[in-house]
Amino acid sequence: MAGFDVSPRVAAAIKAFTVPERLGFGAVWAPVMFSAHCREGRWGRGELLPYGPIEILPGARVLQYGELVFEGMKAYCVGREWPNLFRARDNWQRFARSAERLSMTPVPEDLFFEALDAVAGACRPFIPNATGRSLYLRPFLYGAETGYMLRNSTEFRFMVIANPVESYASGPMRVAVERSDVRAAVGGVGTAKASANYAASLRASSAAAARGYTVALWLDAREQRYIQELSGMNLFAVIGGELHTPELDGAILAGITRDSLIQLARHLGLKVHERRIAIDELLAQVSSGACEEVFACGTAAIVSPISVLADRDGREYTPKTIDGVAARLREALLAIQERRAADPFGWTRDVAPFTATI
Ligand code: COI
Repeated sequence: MAGFDVSPRVAAAIKAFTVPERLGFGAVWAPVMFSAHCREGRWGRGELLPYGPIEILPGARVLQYGELVFEGMKAYCVGREWPNLFRARDNWQRFARSAERLSMTPVPEDLFFEALDAVAGACRPFIPNATGRSLYLRPFLYGAETGYMLRNSTEFRFMVIANPVESYASGPMRVAVERSDVRAAVGGVGTAKASANYAASLRASSAAAARGYTVALWLDAREQRYIQELSGMNLFAVIGGELHTPELDGAILAGITRDSLIQLARHLGLKVHERRIAIDELLAQVSSGACEEVFACGTAAIVSPISVLADRDGREYTPKTIDGVAARLREALLAIQERRAADPFGWTRDVAPFTATI
C-alpha cells in the first residue's frame, strides 16, 4: 500500500502519452505529477495526478512575493530495466537549505523520495534509453497562503513534475560576460535554488541572446571582478592542465554536478583549485593560451564546452581547446550516472519499486 494516493485519471494519462523523438530540454512534459500540501507545519498525504493545470489563488504568496524554491535532478535508465537517481539525497539537502533560507517549511526526506519514486516509477516506460538522455525531475515548493503581510506562508505546496530530456546545451556555448546586472550578493539568496535568482538573471540572458550568445556569465556583486556562475551552471577553466573553478563565495549556488566533477577529476588524477578567479585574469589567460579550455556544468547542462567568452566591448576570447578535458569528464560522469561504470563514490541509487496500483 503506497503512502500516497493515485488519481484514477493517471492510468489514462500514461496510456495516452507517447515520447517524441526530439526531446529538447523542458519541451516535453511527462504525463504525471506529484502533489502534497503542508498546513501549519503538517504535511498531508501526497497524490500522483495527471500532469495538468493547478489551482492557485491570485493572492498566494508565491505569486505576490516569489516564495518558491526548486531542485533539478535526473532519473537514468540507459541499457537497464529500472531507473536510478544520482546524488538525490544531496538534492534533498539543498532543497531543505533553500526552503530554510526563504523561511519556508522544508519537505521531509521521506516525502521527497516518495514523490520522486512515484513520478520516476510511473514514467519508467518513457525514460529515454540513450546516453545523455534522461528523465529530468523538477521538485518545487511554494508558499500557497494568501496575503500581503511580509512574513512567510503557513501553507505550502510541494510538487514534482518531470520531462524526458536531452542535454540543456545543444552545442558549445557562447558566453557573454555580464558587467552591469548582478545575479546575487553575499547574504542574499544566491546560495538557495530560489526562483528569484533565475528571474534576476533573465534580463542579462535575453540581452546576451540578442547579441548572439548562449548565456550570461555573472560576476560578484561587490566589485564585479570575480567570476561567480552562469545561472543554472557552474564554470571550470583548464589552466596548465589543472582545473580551476570559482570557490563558493556565499552567493554562488553549490552545484551538485560541480562538486561531482571536483571529486571525479581528483579521482582521475587531475589537480583542482577552488579559488577566486578574476574575470580579467581569465580573459588574459585565454588570450595568451595559458588557459586552454573553459566549460560549464550543471544537472541540465551535464558538462558543456564553451567556445567563446565575450566581453562587454564586443571582444571575443576563444579557448584553443573546445571539449578536451570537458569531454573526458562528461563521459566519466555520465558513465557513473547511467550505471555503465562502477560508482566508487556511492552516488547512485535505484528508484524504489512502484507499489501503488495505477
Ligand atoms: C538544473 O541544472 O537543474 C538547473 O536548475 C538549470 C535550469 C535553469 C535549466
